[in-house]
Amino acid sequence: MTNISGKWVAHSRTCAHCAEKIAQNCGMDADKAYVLGLLHDIGRKFGVYHLRHVSDGYKYMMSLGYDDVARICLTHSFNQDKLEAYVGNFDASQEDTELIRIKLKETVQDDYDKLIQLCDSIAGAEGVMDIIDRMSDVKSRYGSYDPEKWQTNLDLKEYFEKKMGMDLYVAVDKDNYIPISSRMVEFRKADIADAEVLVDIYNASFFDDYIKYGECPAYGRTKEMMEQSIIDYPKFLIIYDGKPVGCISCKALEDGIYEVGCLCVIPEFQGKGIGTAAMEFAKSFYSDWKKFTLVTPVDKSQNVRFYTVKCGFSIHSEEMDGNVKVIRFLLER
Ligand SMILES: [Fe+2]
Repeated sequence: MTNISGKWVAHSRTCAHCAEKIAQNCGMDADKAYVLGLLHDIGRKFGVYHLRHVSDGYKYMMSLGYDDVARICLTHSFNQDKLEAYVGNFDASQEDTELIRIKLKETVQDDYDKLIQLCDSIAGAEGVMDIIDRMSDVKSRYGSYDPEKWQTNLDLKEYFEKKMGMDLYVAVDKDNYIPISSRMVEFRKADIADAEVLVDIYNASFFDDYIKYGECPAYGRTKEMMEQSIIDYPKFLIIYDGKPVGCISCKALEDGIYEVGCLCVIPEFQGKGIGTAAMEFAKSFYSDWKKFTLVTPVDKSQNVRFYTVKCGFSIHSEEMDGNVKVIRFLLER
């Protein structure tokens, strides 16, 4: 059974967000922290289980060669190395339970293990929670909560606050962060009548590029140019909370190979996971895809990070686009 639509997905997004922000504020690797946070509960994709999600996640990530993530699948539920402190049912097989016990004993937990344990204890499906509220919620759902584990989580909060020199909830923007969900982002195929809206979106999104490079084919288009572009290069409007805030356009190059011509979100809506949701949408819309490819200027480190860390692209090569050196990215199925 595959379960990828449960609340655990939104919880994982919140956990990834918190891990990234805390890591940024204390000199840890924010990309690594984000990925670990996002995948710590990947074992839940196999169904609704308790302890078994730990061994399922561990074995799955090991089978893909992601040892660092596998380790987090294992350690995130254990802020001490004792198996007995697990909150929930012991529903893993005897063999898997033994595997968890042995691997836990072998592992010397580091700051990344600690970070995800802390983030797990504040990450709700609707957003960031107060650590006491979240632990109380878990306690009420499972009937008990190991008191030592409870205290260790509070100690972790203090540990990272000291490391960051700031309040945990400020660092993770507790009051404003909402994990993106499919309910909030919609996609609508653009038609000619959308040309003006798209010109506004492109101008807002590419103004900085235009200033930086002195040229940007996506900036300053006329309505007529955009109308032609809508015909040549199919586009989808990205609608967030009912407002058009971005665009994704893809063109089939050959059988199952698509070029992403443009993926843009206007600056005030960036950093909310909207771009990532758009790439997910493209993958589901062009369901026969084998490869996606695109280029972005080599010096736009934020874009490079977005496509690699957030969307899973790899860097294929470098090429010139006019006067601008660009990186070609590739995403293979
Ligand atoms: Fe979790």
